[in-house]
Amino acid sequence: MELKNKTVLIIGGSSGIGLAAATLAHKHGASVTLTGTTEQKSKHAAASAGNTGYAVLDVNREEEVNRFISRFESIDHIFNAAGSTQFGSVLEGNMSDHFAPINTRLAGSVHLVRAAAKKINQGGSFVFTGAVSTDRPVQGAWTSGVATAAAEQLARVMALELAPIRFNAVSPGFTDTPMWDKVLGENKTAVIASVAEKSLVKRIATADEVAEAVIFLMKNESITGEIIHIDGGARLV
Ligand SMILES: NC(=O)c1ccc[n+]([C@@H]2O[C@H](COP(=O)([O-])OP(=O)(O)OC[C@H]3O[C@@H](n4cnc5c(N)ncnc54)[C@H](OP(=O)(O)O)[C@@H]3O)[C@@H](O)[C@H]2O)c1
Repeated sequence: MELKNKTVLIIGGSSGIGLAAATLAHKHGASVTLTGTTEQKSKHAAASAGNTGYAVLDVNREEEVNRFISRFESIDHIFNAAGSTQFGSVLEGNMSDHFAPINTRLAGSVHLVRAAAKKINQGGSFVFTGAVSTDRPVQGAWTSGVATAAAEQLARVMALELAPIRFNAVSPGFTDTPMWDKVLGENKTAVIASVAEKSLVKRIATADEVAEAVIFLMKNESITGEIIHIDGGARLV
């Protein structure tokens, strides 16, 4: 399926992997709407992606998701890139903070499915975001490991539940995006160098490389229930 004139929604498209996917889908001729959690950032991202549409959306709020989806008569593809990595001991903090990344990837994606499934055109798809932490959990980031596994499994179970709509996921390894500026601050450069050194390919992925996998999953009408790993072989070492 070509993406020209297709309706593509990128949730969490105001930054990083989502913004790269929105930019690439726009280059493929799709009619793209990206979302972020603030007006200013979403508007700025939409301009940088090639003057795409944009909206403000918290994917955790089902009514907001329903309102957003109700704007579209029909939809071809939805990519949920919303989320973040979170560190914290399971024995400290409160449950709602711990569950934030799980909610965004799992409940957020389910909100999108419930709101949009009946509007997906033939050959259309959902793409969710997992991560290498499904196979290589990181100590201290237990909720991320649970959340990414849930997102990947959601793609597989929905592929069965709601066929012929296609459901897939990307599973990035360490990818250079603004998320790590927020999480690692001034340690980012040193951490990236160390992760790259341990990687089989001696580098970390770019957001554009993950976005290419997202677009591939949208375009290939014979792929469903698939998880594409863009992790430089991180699961092997
Ligand atoms: N970077 C990596 O190494 C890596 C590796 C594996 C998986 N991932 C996952 O890939 C996804 C994208 O990550 P990224 O690195 O591109 O991060 P990013 O640059 O921080 O982008 C995250 C995006 O998610 C949006 N977002 C956050 N919470 C949201 C919510 N509740 N509802 C709707 N949108 C929300 C953000 O919107 P605002 O900025 O407008 O708030 C932003 O657009 C995340 O799920 C991340 O965990 C990243």
